[in-house]
Amino acid sequence: MSLSKYLVYATILSTFVLIVWGAYLTAGNWGGDCGTTNGGSLVSSDWPYCNGSLAIPNPAVSYGSLVEYIHRTLSVVVSVFLLAATVAVWRMKPRPVPVARAMLLTLLMLVVQIGLGDVVVNSDLNAIVTAVHLANATALFAVMVIGGVYMHIHEKR
Ligand code: HEM
Repeated sequence: MSLSKYLVYATILSTFVLIVWGAYLTAGNWGGDCGTTNGGSLVSSDWPYCNGSLAIPNPAVSYGSLVEYIHRTLSVVVSVFLLAATVAVWRMKPRPVPVARAMLLTLLMLVVQIGLGDVVVNSDLNAIVTAVHLANATALFAVMVIGGVYMHIHEKR
């Protein structure tokens, strides 16, 4: 099995974990726990920091901050895997064009997704923005899986 295939599969798996973790974050109502609140509403998201720092939050002080911090950290892990997978697939000879296109499109959608994450935390977790964040996450995962299926077919030839 080629390194590119491992990278594409690792990207899909880590994105799956990130999406499930995002649902956990929402369900626990911890989405604003890295920011500063006043009277229940979020006045500053502190993004890209968590409570003004990049250090791992202490769960004994705020478990929610740790859950939110892990969500952001997982998005960095996914970004690194996706970037490496996209470069590796584009360098393959012969290049599996459908996989390369799917990875490139996913990369663009990931940039939008991270931007949307910023808007989510800065909009005091606005319901519509959060739904758009979920919609884009689902769409980018679908494109990634299509790329993974094409990769599987390409490697079997
Ligand atoms: C690849 C990147 C990302 C993916 C795939 C992703 C995916 C998700 C998903 C699926 C949810 C759950 C939505 C729901 O159940 O309604 C979620 C929630 C959330 N995400 Fe992300 N996310 C990403 C990056 C980010 C980033 C970078 C931030 C912060 C700047 C962020 C902030 C949030 C917040 C605050 C919530 C909770 C919203 C709430 O409680 O209403 N996300 N994310």
